[in-house]
Amino acid sequence: MSGSESMVGSEPAPLLDVRDLGVAFDSEGGAVHAVNGVSYTLREGETLGIVGESGSGKSVHVLAMLGLIPRPPGRITGGQVLFEGRDLLAFPERELRKVRGGRIGFVFQDPMSSLNPGMTVAAQIAEPLRIHLGLDGRAARLRARELLDLVRIPDAAARLDQYPHEFSGGQRQRVMIAMGLSCRPKLLIADEATTALDVTVQAEIIALVQDLKREIGMAIIWITHDLGVVAGIADTVQVMYAGRILERGPVDDIFADPRSAYTLGLLRSLPDLSRGRAGRKRLHQIEGAPPDMRDPPPGDPFAARNVYATPRCRLEPPPLAQASSAAPGHLVAAWYDLPALLAAERAAPGAVP
Ligand SMILES: Nc1ncnc2c1ncn2[C@@H]1O[C@H](COP(=O)(O)OP(=O)(O)O)[C@@H](O)[C@H]1O
Ligand SMILES: [Mg+2]
Repeated sequence: MSGSESMVGSEPAPLLDVRDLGVAFDSEGGAVHAVNGVSYTLREGETLGIVGESGSGKSVHVLAMLGLIPRPPGRITGGQVLFEGRDLLAFPERELRKVRGGRIGFVFQDPMSSLNPGMTVAAQIAEPLRIHLGLDGRAARLRARELLDLVRIPDAAARLDQYPHEFSGGQRQRVMIAMGLSCRPKLLIADEATTALDVTVQAEIIALVQDLKREIGMAIIWITHDLGVVAGIADTVQVMYAGRILERGPVDDIFADPRSAYTLGLLRSLPDLSRGRAGRKRLHQIEGAPPDMRDPPPGDPFAARNVYATPRCRLEPPPLAQASSAAPGHLVAAWYDLPALLAAERAAPGAVP
């Protein structure tokens, strides 16, 4: 039945290999365990969408990779982050600075605070080009103009000497993307890069990033609290909760066949525009709140909010494991069998919680 199994052994080494990463913040009330044993890989050119509610450790885990956790109060409690085979966590700061904005580009939320309001756009785009590529002023300016063209800012030449406040919110985010891509990174990390924008502009930015990906071919980690956003951009989706990965799989599998009750909750809270009237369900929010990460529960962190939780869920953390033999890339951390529970629900409505 599955002829693809024999190909598994010939896969190339991943671009990024995160192994058992842990991050904590010391506070007066005890250590906040923000990231707890996160492991995953990213292939060259792959787009990974990372989703989860606010506070699930999405930002902290990428900040840790880039050496941007404030220490103290933050500390890496364990793990490795192999990028092109070398552990970023073991890099001296001087080396990391070369990687940040060089081989790894990043775009964070809120370009108004990330862009310097007192510097022209040309000067800001030129900065990483000088630091990482050693371009002189003239060459950097030329490249800055190319980059503004690349992110489809009209009349780029005339806009180089303008300041951030002269650009719209969407254009400022395009400038940030231009900066993130300026050194032709192998990996672009975007953290809530479109969250502050309205839905139309958000869609434009996502379409732009997809075009750029085709042109440049970098891998992308796209972080958002909105599962709807990743539908249009990701190859693989990873769902985080309480500093753990609860589910990971090809984007179509995650949407069509979720295995974690948390993923199901996120899906049910999305307005379903793609399936038309017949497929539209009533929206509901996931009841309850995430656990206190100073004192995380011993079992499945989502158990307290999960109507499908079993006694085992409250006692023992489930490992992230293959969801079914039919879908090798689909992983879930759950002791319960969500598809079976949903099927039972459909067969006898009301009989299962
Ligand atoms: N500088 C910090 N000091 C203390 N706690 C922090 C700090 N930064 C983040 N945290 C905590 O780490 C956890 C994960 O945060 P974060 O990664 O920002 O969540 P997300 O990006 O998924 O919304 C949260 O509980 C947050 O309060
Ligand atoms: Mg965040």
